[in-house]
Amino acid sequence: MTGTTDPEEALRDRISADSLTSRRDYLRVMTTVSGGLLVGSVAVSAGVLHRHGDAEAAEVPELRVADRLARGQAVLFNYPGEHDRAMAVKLADDTVVGYSTVCTHLACGVLWKEHRGEEGELYCPCHEGSFDIRTGAVTGGPPPRGLPKVLMVERADGSVWAVGTAFSDESVRHAACRQLGAIRPGTTVPSCPSGGGN
Ligand code: FES
Repeated sequence: MTGTTDPEEALRDRISADSLTSRRDYLRVMTTVSGGLLVGSVAVSAGVLHRHGDAEAAEVPELRVADRLARGQAVLFNYPGEHDRAMAVKLADDTVVGYSTVCTHLACGVLWKEHRGEEGELYCPCHEGSFDIRTGAVTGGPPPRGLPKVLMVERADGSVWAVGTAFSDESVRHAACRQLGAIRPGTTVPSCPSGGGN
């Protein structure tokens, strides 16, 4: 885990990066959804990882998960905790997405299936659950919720980093703003709802 010395500044950068995904030489934010980048957490049965909302979330851990990812390639890692199973995938358009691999149905391990669907799919073999690779939303089977997201960044040197998490079906921007609000209550951030981190 490396670190940015100022968590607030780091979050501001990430929120900024969210709207600048075309700046390929800067931070390329991935996370799917409507295009945001954020921070949060996930918990299994509740659909969110266990640190979500905890004071620890304010630590904004960062983890280098790969020196480089090729298109279609996935990498497994543990994040945000050492027992939290997660995966990052680089899509055909170079977007990098990240998710918890703990199925929201009965917690089986979710797999990356590059050749399923139009651009690949996240698939749970236990009861044939499936999830959209760009959003984590349920596309088939019994899972009751989408997969919690891991917020990913691809840096200029090609390295891929996990920088935060978001609840199932929570927008990346909302998660980032919420995280920022936890770190600096009362902080005004123009790009966040209500001009703050809440
Ligand atoms: S545990 Fe994944 S579909 Fe049942």
